[in-house]
Amino acid sequence: MRVLVVNGPNLNLLGTREPEVYGTTTLAEIETMVRRRAAELGCEVAFFQSNSEGAILDFLQREAPSASGIVINPAALTHSSYALYDCLRAVSVPAVEVHLSNLHARARSEAFRVKDVTAPAAVGVIQGLGPRGYLMALEYLVDRDE
Ligand code: DQA
Repeated sequence: MRVLVVNGPNLNLLGTREPEVYGTTTLAEIETMVRRRAAELGCEVAFFQSNSEGAILDFLQREAPSASGIVINPAALTHSSYALYDCLRAVSVPAVEVHLSNLHARARSEAFRVKDVTAPAAVGVIQGLGPRGYLMALEYLVDRDE
């Protein structure tokens, strides 16, 4: 089984980006954690991060046909990108949306965070559990594929 792990804008800055919100784990460390778990599960992973919406759509369109699951943290595209919603629908590969932070809790001070336009294209959403959410999403997709 091959799973795509996709990260959207500004997630390349994890580690130093608002550590009180996102913690201090870097994206490279998350990748290491996911690769280790994927190896245990006998699953291949392809990682991708971009600050560009178009690059993410191009990656998904190119790679999804050879994958059977997608773990995606769309970052701020979550709140705005109907193009990403359409793309996830179009590629027709089960996707789990992951957020490090709890968008519902953050919406108390930043109302836009509760608007999630991409989630309806996902089979489920994991949020607020930090980097562990990526592992849970991977485990779910592998389990579902068996
Ligand atoms: C995020 C939450 C989004 O609201 C934000 O724009 C991000 C990261 C998260 O992982 O908690 O960039 O997706």
